[in-house]
Amino acid sequence: MTKILFVCLGNICRSPMAEFVMKDTVKRMGIEEKFYIESAATSTEAVGCRVHYGTRKILNKLNIDCSMKTARQMTKADYEKFDYIIVMEEANVRALIRRLGEDEDKKIYKLLNFCGEESDIADPWYTGNFEDTYNDIVRGIDGLLKHFGEK
Ligand code: 4NP
Repeated sequence: MTKILFVCLGNICRSPMAEFVMKDTVKRMGIEEKFYIESAATSTEAVGCRVHYGTRKILNKLNIDCSMKTARQMTKADYEKFDYIIVMEEANVRALIRRLGEDEDKKIYKLLNFCGEESDIADPWYTGNFEDTYNDIVRGIDGLLKHFGEK
């Protein structure tokens, strides 16, 4: 089983969207037993908060339930536990290294690296545009599944 932790700054917009879209995708493909998936934050900004309305609105339209998810901060134990730490943007990499130390096991990736891109996932925090974020995340997850030989 491959353990994947999606990470963003607050764990209320981008990383929970990636978590629940990936969980839904592997379930629909019938390969959910191959993956253990969670999400977490680099910061404490939104710890304990439920998923942001903009992300919930996108997930609800897809009939994906995220009502039980509350934001939590990533720990060093998470770094040890998960095989892939997949962040949304470059600033997340720096924040993790600053707080948890160097990426000695080379587990940290940016989601769009899996489709050969260096760019960040669109950040809806200031724009309110969650559709762009969703499209980036779907593209990244598609690349991730290809990386695992599942597509
Ligand atoms: P996220 O979005 O990192 O995609 O969950 C944000 C959530 C909270 C804040 C910024 C971005 N904040 O500054 O509190």
